[in-house]
Amino acid sequence: MKIAVLVSGGGTNLQAIIDAIASGKITTTEIALVISNKEGAYALKRAEQAGIKGIVISPKQYADKEAYSQDMIKTIKDAGCELIVLAGFLVVLPESFVNAFEGKIINIHPSLIPSFCGDGFYGLKVHEKALERGVKVTGATVHYVDSGTDTGPIIDQKAVYIMPDDTPETLQRRVMEEAEWVILPKAIDDIANHRI
Ligand code: GRF
Repeated sequence: MKIAVLVSGGGTNLQAIIDAIASGKITTTEIALVISNKEGAYALKRAEQAGIKGIVISPKQYADKEAYSQDMIKTIKDAGCELIVLAGFLVVLPESFVNAFEGKIINIHPSLIPSFCGDGFYGLKVHEKALERGVKVTGATVHYVDSGTDTGPIIDQKAVYIMPDDTPETLQRRVMEEAEWVILPKAIDDIANHRI
């Protein structure tokens, strides 16, 4: 199964997928393409180091979101990708894009949806809100992408306990290490091997 991984930043979730394919934790899967909306995203460096084609397609390069969407759809289809993985990807994808790949787009979110998700909940802010609320357990969720924000069907979740001395940074790191980097590769392997 050929996949496209969409990124915006550091690419640690992309790295987890690369490493899982290399170690055999993910089988029958090839990352055909990494697309970043940001020039210079370290995720592109990770793709290059792994010998994977990485390109930049930014909404800013287009007259409107629809033109962006159509070029993204064509690029991904031309690469023969059957699954699209949003891994730290911060662009809200247009409806035409979601419709073009109905049921074939998955996302990793750094909380236990439906907590701390939706518009404005991304990156460190998710963990700041969890600490502010005083929850004892958080974690990460892999879900299918639909036309909403973090609203598609849930595929998998993994819980992470909050420690008394956690800061947003230490919590983010532990959620990535103990949850995101575990359930995202597993979801890809389950889809590639028709277990879900
Ligand atoms: C992380 O906060 C992750 O939870 C979210 O995007 C951020 C960066 O991820 N999905 P990555 O290191 O770019 O994969």
